[in-house]
Amino acid sequence: MLYVVVSALLLGGSSAYAPGVSAGRAAVSMRSSALSMAERTPLMAGNWKMNLLLPEAIALAKDVAAAAAKSPKVDVAVCVPYPYLVPVAEALKGSKVGLGAQDAFWETAGAYTAAVSTGMLKSVGSKYVLAGHSERRAVFGDSDADINKKVLKIIAEGLTCILCVGELKEERESGETFNVCDKQLTAGLKGVSAEMMTQIVIAYEPVWAIGTGLTATPEIAQETHAYIRSWFVENYSQKVADAVIIQYGGSVNAGNVDKLMACPDIDGALVGGASLKIDAFGPIIAFKPL
Ligand code: PGA
Repeated sequence: MLYVVVSALLLGGSSAYAPGVSAGRAAVSMRSSALSMAERTPLMAGNWKMNLLLPEAIALAKDVAAAAAKSPKVDVAVCVPYPYLVPVAEALKGSKVGLGAQDAFWETAGAYTAAVSTGMLKSVGSKYVLAGHSERRAVFGDSDADINKKVLKIIAEGLTCILCVGELKEERESGETFNVCDKQLTAGLKGVSAEMMTQIVIAYEPVWAIGTGLTATPEIAQETHAYIRSWFVENYSQKVADAVIIQYGGSVNAGNVDKLMACPDIDGALVGGASLKIDAFGPIIAFKPL
């Protein structure tokens, strides 16, 4: 696959923010970068968060479907607000765009006011569900244990879970990035077998880069992606590590996607703000690694 070949070291400068401290433990294995890469199909996923009204959502979904049709080698998904799952599923009919939700509760059914089950999500055609997004962690108090219950339930339902991990700015600055990823992966994937890993996508989203306009430089993103892939070598197997899709998220846009996608361990993007307009998301789907 061409886009994995370019060395991260050759990517050159970027206007992106680059906190001055290295990501963590110096002794960490970086074996994954040296591998010849398995065939991984990039996944570009929009996370619409709490945005758009219904007519805008339907129009955007149709535009995404049309854009995705022009990029046969890229998987595309949109994670939409709950009320839009059904109409967006309709708008995406016949397209290759996967429907996604932004969260799910771990119980099957019952007296859980305002909660939405994985069975409900599946019944309306969802394929993907996010778990552990930093906004869920920070605003709604999702703990690692909660996130793990969600991950297991999403998998048990036969859906694909996009598990989000990433460090806060203070954690990056104190050299804790790899430890944070280790902790969130260990807790979030407790009880997830190697077989189940085919239903997991990881989104590495440094919290300081989300919605701030501060993207990690490709070098910084690649360093953590390589760490995460090596984490899978150590905790699962080389086979699982080679196969797992690791998306980058945090202010991805049409101007930085090509450099990010040239990094060997970056397999796609989870995109917030820039997924809300086709002028911004279209070029992300149509990325050309630099
Ligand atoms: P952003 O959001 O692209 O607006 O930074 C990314 C995300 O939160 O998934």
